[in-house]
Amino acid sequence: MTDRYATRPSASWHVQVLTLFPEMFPGPLGVSLVGTALDKGLWSLETIDIRDFGIGRHKSVDDTPAGGGAGMVMRADVLGAAIDAARLNAPGLAPVYLSPRGRPLTQARVREFADGPGVMMLAGRFEGVDQRVIEHHGLEEVSIGDYVLSGGELAALVVVDACVRLIDGVLGAKDSLGEESFEAGLLEYPHYTRPREWEGHAIPDVLLSGDHRRIADWRRQQAEALTRARRPDLIANRAKGENND
Ligand code: ADE
Repeated sequence: MTDRYATRPSASWHVQVLTLFPEMFPGPLGVSLVGTALDKGLWSLETIDIRDFGIGRHKSVDDTPAGGGAGMVMRADVLGAAIDAARLNAPGLAPVYLSPRGRPLTQARVREFADGPGVMMLAGRFEGVDQRVIEHHGLEEVSIGDYVLSGGELAALVVVDACVRLIDGVLGAKDSLGEESFEAGLLEYPHYTRPREWEGHAIPDVLLSGDHRRIADWRRQQAEALTRARRPDLIANRAKGENND
């Protein structure tokens, strides 16, 4: 590990990832906006290698499931020791276990995480983790979608990316958050740029009209139509007043 992400700079938004594959980090979080923010110290990353807490000569971290069945389960004592070490180093972070069984992640929850001191995320492998760890440490189970990944690490990368871009100073003034998908409980309207005509397709006239009022109306209509077609659940939530802001 390098100093770039091994330690916790005092006040920045902090991420801890407990994983058997620390080499997966920062990975894609080391480039572009989020990577620059990491270099600037706007957020900080610490990986905790679960293997360091393994049992015996083989540093074993998993065992057969109680009650029988396929696969292996990550041991409560091993994970408990890793979580204790993580919490000692950075108390107060939101404790998360990434799991397809979790509540689906929303932009609203991402914003809450981003507004807090940071997140401590357990990335599981194998069939999962001993349930007692989840309960004892009050881990919030978070899913990034209705499909099964081979481990929680990719999900952790997704959570961090979504949060970090909301931290003050990460996005430039030109990259406005206000109009993007989910910010108003709607999907975002379509974008166009030069050339004015491409492969026989023109930019919609209204966008070239200079009439800001008409442009805003058109964009809102497009956003509503797209959301109705693709995500009727979001429209239903808006009607109930459950805005995703
Ligand atoms: N681990 C495996 N699949 C996952 C998912 N869909 N979301 C979060 N963590 C996971």
